[in-house]
Amino acid sequence: MRIHAGLIAVGAAIAPLGTSDAQDKGPRVSAKEYEGWRQYSVHCARCHGQDVVGNPVAANLLESARKGGPVAGMEAFTTVVAEGRLDKGMPAFKQTTSPEQREAMYAYVKGRADKRIPAGRPSAPPS
Ligand code: HEC
Repeated sequence: MRIHAGLIAVGAAIAPLGTSDAQDKGPRVSAKEYEGWRQYSVHCARCHGQDVVGNPVAANLLESARKGGPVAGMEAFTTVVAEGRLDKGMPAFKQTTSPEQREAMYAYVKGRADKRIPAGRPSAPPS
């Protein structure tokens, strides 16, 4: 039920996307990073913080995915996301996300950790 409530909240939050307003404002990102932001907002933000700003209940992914961090590489990152760390409170997402979605989340989080992507809702990429 917690997941369900989160989906509704995020669905409402991203509903205005597609208006010209949403496309003109906000950080510029690639299509993959944009998809990663969408997936992150649905699945991860409630624990790791909106825009990956960090949250005391879970690992700070801006530090974890930064150069030299434990999940700086895509393989390490996507493995933790797929398998989780169930004993430590990190759920497994292999049932609820695809490999492509996990790679997109890595692209987004890595961009945040490397300071290429500022906080905030990204602009929808040109279609
Ligand atoms: C229910 C809360 C919760 C949710 C939802 C959640 N996480 Fe986590 N996550 C955690 C906790 C707690 C840890 C710390 C685990 C530990 O101590 O090793 C963690 C750890 C991680 C790590 C390892 C960080 C490190 O330093 O080793 C990664 C990567 C990660 N999460 C990514 C994600 C992504 C991406 C999502 C969304 C698909 C997500 N998490 C959703 C709670 C959560």
